[in-house]
Amino acid sequence: IRDTLNSVVKDGVIDFTDIDITEEEIKKYSQIYIVACGSAWHVGVEAQYVIEELAQIPVRVELASEFRYREMPLVKDGLVIVISQSGETADTLAAMRMAKDKGLATLAVVNVIGSSIAREADKVFYTLAGPEISVATTKGYSAQLVALDCIAVQFAKVKGLITDEQYSYYISELQTIPEKIEKILQDKERIQWFAAKYANAHDVFFVGRGVDYAVCLEGSLKLKEISYIHSEAYAAGELKHGTIALISEGVPVIAVATQKHVYSKVISNIREVKARGAYVTLLTREKEITDPSICDVHISLPDIADEFAIFEAVVIFQLIAYYTSVGKGLNPDQPRNLAKSVTVE
Ligand code: G6P
Repeated sequence: IRDTLNSVVKDGVIDFTDIDITEEEIKKYSQIYIVACGSAWHVGVEAQYVIEELAQIPVRVELASEFRYREMPLVKDGLVIVISQSGETADTLAAMRMAKDKGLATLAVVNVIGSSIAREADKVFYTLAGPEISVATTKGYSAQLVALDCIAVQFAKVKGLITDEQYSYYISELQTIPEKIEKILQDKERIQWFAAKYANAHDVFFVGRGVDYAVCLEGSLKLKEISYIHSEAYAAGELKHGTIALISEGVPVIAVATQKHVYSKVISNIREVKARGAYVTLLTREKEITDPSICDVHISLPDIADEFAIFEAVVIFQLIAYYTSVGKGLNPDQPRNLAKSVTVE
């Protein structure tokens, strides 16, 4: 995260000179398409909330495998952002080529230097996360989030939508993320203890609203891919449209409530599952006052700007998945049937 930030933050401001994105280009983009697969797509879901909120540019987040075959009208002044750790994912590469053929500008957020996507994109934002060995992405995902959040903050600034004070605030909050993650990691034995509760679960549900929903998608994927426990992520408001039928005594529900504007909404969703016997783990920020009766386990996260709470929550989720996997005697680095890089369709 530090390396990703240091590559674009110079003297307290974001500088995209090396990526070759000019202010004129930023002002011209009337639509953004984010195209990716797997966890990189989850980064896109988070970025959609943050870019739309801060930079006020409409964003569509597309699964590369769908986007490449869909006959959708594309806005000519649109920017296609492809996100890929490996830079070799077949569907993402094909989707980017299709967008280029249609005349759209492409920006690749890539980790592997010199990879196919990096070579063919118009512009490249390297995440500089270093080699990522385990199949299930962790640091690669967080570095992608940093890159997309820097894009959101810089686009907002160039478009005159945030003040100098807000701009400095967002950049300094981004710079605090590494130390906040270090703080979470100091307490990882506590997460190991909680994870023991999940080892025998058949189903786990992750719920949240806004960017908390985006991190739930990633938390659910991490758990299922390395512990083989069925899990699903839901936007908390959708619970009552089906999922709540699956909640009975002892079913684990992991809820995230870090977003101030929807905090009370998530809490009332949690009360509904708790009333049906769910075993609730709740993640909130330090300063939130939580009624202890609404959850079985409460995990507090260091205080940070709402937009960036996802960086902390995902580390908790990665640790839950890791300890659950290890607790079941599995190898979390080599999950069955999965590949680090999916270079075929
Ligand atoms: C595989 C990996 C995931 C990754 C996805 C996209 O499924 O296991 O961790 O998110 O591919 O990979 P990419 O290299 O394009 O980010």
